[in-house]
Order: sequence, then structure tokens, then C-alpha cells
Amino acid sequence: MKNRLLSSLAAIIIIAILSFSCSTAPDKVPDDGKIILTPKPGPEPRINGTKIFGVRPGSPFMFKIPATGLRPIKYEVINLPDGLTCDNSTGMITGTLNSPGEYKTIVRATNNKGTAEREFRIVCGEQLALTPHMGWNSWYVWENHVTDSIMRAAADAMVSSGMIDHGYMYINIDDCWSVKPGSDDPSLTGEPRDASGMINSNKRFPDMKDMTDYIHSLGLKAGIYTSPGELTCAGHVAAYQYEEKDVARFVEWGFDFLKYDWCSYSKVGNKELLEDLQKPYLLISSIIRKQNRDIILNLCQYGMGDVWKWGKQVGGQSWRTAGDLGGSFEGIGKALFRDGFDVYSRDSLHLYGGPGGWNDPDYLLIGYLSNWKGQTVPTPLTPNEQYTHVSLWSIVAAPLIFSGDITRLDEFTLSLLTNDEIIEVDQDPLGKPGYRVSKNGDTEVWIRNLEDGSKAVGLFNRGENEAEVTAVWEEIGVTGKQRVRDLWRQKDLGDFSDKYTSTVPVHGVVMLRLWPEKL
Ligand code: GAL
Repeated sequence: MKNRLLSSLAAIIIIAILSFSCSTAPDKVPDDGKIILTPKPGPEPRINGTKIFGVRPGSPFMFKIPATGLRPIKYEVINLPDGLTCDNSTGMITGTLNSPGEYKTIVRATNNKGTAEREFRIVCGEQLALTPHMGWNSWYVWENHVTDSIMRAAADAMVSSGMIDHGYMYINIDDCWSVKPGSDDPSLTGEPRDASGMINSNKRFPDMKDMTDYIHSLGLKAGIYTSPGELTCAGHVAAYQYEEKDVARFVEWGFDFLKYDWCSYSKVGNKELLEDLQKPYLLISSIIRKQNRDIILNLCQYGMGDVWKWGKQVGGQSWRTAGDLGGSFEGIGKALFRDGFDVYSRDSLHLYGGPGGWNDPDYLLIGYLSNWKGQTVPTPLTPNEQYTHVSLWSIVAAPLIFSGDITRLDEFTLSLLTNDEIIEVDQDPLGKPGYRVSKNGDTEVWIRNLEDGSKAVGLFNRGENEAEVTAVWEEIGVTGKQRVRDLWRQKDLGDFSDKYTSTVPVHGVVMLRLWPEKL
């Protein structure tokens, strides 16, 4: 009896401990309805990510070859130009190129299961961002709680999750790293600038240089954010009248990417005037251009003044095409269809993006996000909407910047982020963004022309009922027999002669690639 009592007591204690640890453990995203289509990477080596990379003469070069496959992998680069070297065990290519030109190299990755080889073009010249940026940004999960340790943990997770092996490269802090005047939070207060006017980080970022050194040591690049006004959107110190000094500071700290918002610049310039819209970006890009460091400039002014028509001219490597995709948590689904599909087709945005300057419809809002009420919760997008989100972004050649919690990636979210055949569409070196070719009620067919002469085709269903969607060869501009491949499943579907029809789920997509028979 006593024994039984004791064992029941023990069982109660164990259950209590277990339920306590369960309630404190990170929530699991419920897997209902989440069908993972992306096959897991095999043990043999596969080289992923961009096939072309731009650098300016004299700037420090850093590129880590992204490859999946069993470790250890030995990396080699054939025809690497003078000035660059490749670390055979990490795949990091570093050095400096002084002579402009296009250098065609062959990248090779070998493990005990085999060897993979791929052409990798290094273009030394004026253009950076020859394919859309890939990375992570802190905003939609950490908003104004971001810290140094969050950034380091994000960089670690980029490596441990394997995202780095699929081409993800940037770890970007968004707003809230500088001092916030008038804040009653002691971690945000302090001197906004030092005696010489150089901007200070707030106490949540005790040593920016050490942080970017850490990010770089993992083979990643680091990004930062500010605004041309006096304050950022969240009310932190920004760059107005300190532009030269702030860029010098970002260089000293070792940043590789700058998101330049508009907020509070409305007090300085008139957003109805094109000249005023362009002025802060012309100024910052001319300062950046003088640095001995390649810094990608991302314009964040929500598409004002049809920024896609001049974003590249004012020195941007990408420009936001609309407001915040996740401005309202509950509204993400609506925004996805509006800012993704509608803005792109209405304004023919495909005519403007390309190598060196990309349309940016905002971040990938999947996985765990802030609900703006103090919690991080799973994305409100349904699994099919998430497939639609990533597929559309790759068709329109959008930057693939994930902004959910990278330290809490469930298998489904990871599978959406790491499908190499979808990423290959996004990163296609021809750099021609895709566009809508047909709309039939709630269904749409989008295509993107790819460098090898093939086409990516998205069959989308925006409706509330499952629907059949057909890609008609004549409409998408191909003739004759085509080899059709399902990109999410990475499976050939067969040869088709004049059309291909598929049943597409509610708010879902089927992503195809078509090769003419002769390719
Ligand atoms: C917005 C911007 C967001 C985020 C936020 C930070 O203007 O569109 O992406 O950067 O500011 O306060």
C-alpha cells in the first residue's frame, strides 16, 4: 500500500515536472495540414545558391560556397583569379580583386559520396547584388526587442539549420539598435553619439564590431538599418545630417548591408516631390560608394514615387515596392495577395528589377512571428499560402529574407526555405523577374524566363475552392514538347505537347519548370 502510494506520488511528481518543462519549452508549430514537399538534401555534395557574385575593385571579397551533403566536404575553385583564395575545408573565398572583369570559375565540392561541380562567375565591377539577396532580418519576430545575443543566435541558427548551405548569407539587424531619446528603458538610453559625432549603439549592443566579426567568422554577412530623418520609425536616433559619419561608423563596425528607411524624413523633405524622394538615397549611396567596402543599399520607402523606376539610378540594390507586408499580423494573408500579386501586375514591376537592383516586396513571413502583442506565434498564413508566398517571391526575383524566428524553425518552415530548385529560380543569373501571363477568375499563371532557356511557371489559385489551372503553351510563349518538372517535389512529371493542367488547392500553387525537348 505504502509502496503504491509512493509510486503514485512519484508519478505525479514526474507528470508535474514534465508538464512544467513542456509549458516552458518552445511551442511546437502544429503540423496539421502541413505537407512537406521538399525532399531532404542527399548525402552526396550539391552546390547551391547564387551562380554569380559581384564585387567592386579593391573591396574585401568574402563568399562562402553553399553546399549540402555529408561533412567533411573539400572545396576547390578552379580558375580562381589572382587576389582570391579559397579555404579548402570551409569553402570561404576571400581576398581582393583589383582589375575589373568577369572571372569564370568552377567550384567543386567533394565528400566521400562523390563530387559536385558548378560554374561560379565572379564579376568585378560596379554592380553588386547580381542576384536577389538571401538572408534573415530581425524585424518581424524581434521588433523592438532585438539584442546582440539575438543576432549572434540568429547567425548560429543560420549555420546549424543548414540555411547557409542553401545560399542564405545576410544576418540583418533592423530598427532599434541605436539610442532612443526619451525612453524610460535604461537599456535604450545613453549618449546618442560620441564626442566626435560618431553614432553609438544602445546597451543592448555592447560591441558591434565584435558582433559582426562573429557573424563573418561563420561565413555570413551582417546588415544594419537606419533612416535619413532624425529618428527611425521606432523613434531611435537616425542619420539626418550625420550621413558621412554614420556610414563611416557602419564601415568601422564591419557591416555589409544597409536598409535605409524613410521614417521621419517627411519632416525634412516633401514626399510629393520626386526630387525630395530621391535626395536622401542619392546622398547615402554616394557616401557608401566612396568606402572601401561593398555595402548593399536597400531602399525602404514603401514604393513612393514609383521607386522601381529610379531605385537603381539613385544607387539602391533593392527597393521596397509597398508598405509593410506584416503591418497587421492578421492581415498578412491579404497583404500577400495585394502587395505580391496585384501591385506586381498592376505596375508591371518585372520591367524594372534585374541584376544590381531588385524589387523588394518585403520579408518572408513564415515560421514564428511577433503578433505585435508581446508574443511570438506561428504565421497566420495557411500552409498553402506559405507555398504561394515563397513561390511568388522566387518567380518575381524578390530578395529571400526570412524574418521569422530562425532559432525556432520547424521542419515545415525549413522545408519552405530550403528547396534548392525553388531557390534556383529566385537566384537565376539572367535576373529577369517573372510576370503574370493569364488570369482566369481566381486563378493566375505566372512565368519567369530562366538563363538556360527554360521557364518557371507558377499555377496559382487565389480562390476559396480547389481549382484546375492550366498553363497553355501558346500563352506562356513556348511551342512543342516540353519536359515538365514539379519544383517543390523535385520530380519530373513527363513530356507535354501543348498545355499542362493541375489541380491547385485553395490559396495554393503548383510550381513548374519547363524545358524545351532539345535542352
Ligand atoms: C518600417 C519598415 C519596416 C521596419 C520598421 C522599423 O518603416 O517598413 O520594415 O524596418 O520600419 O521600425
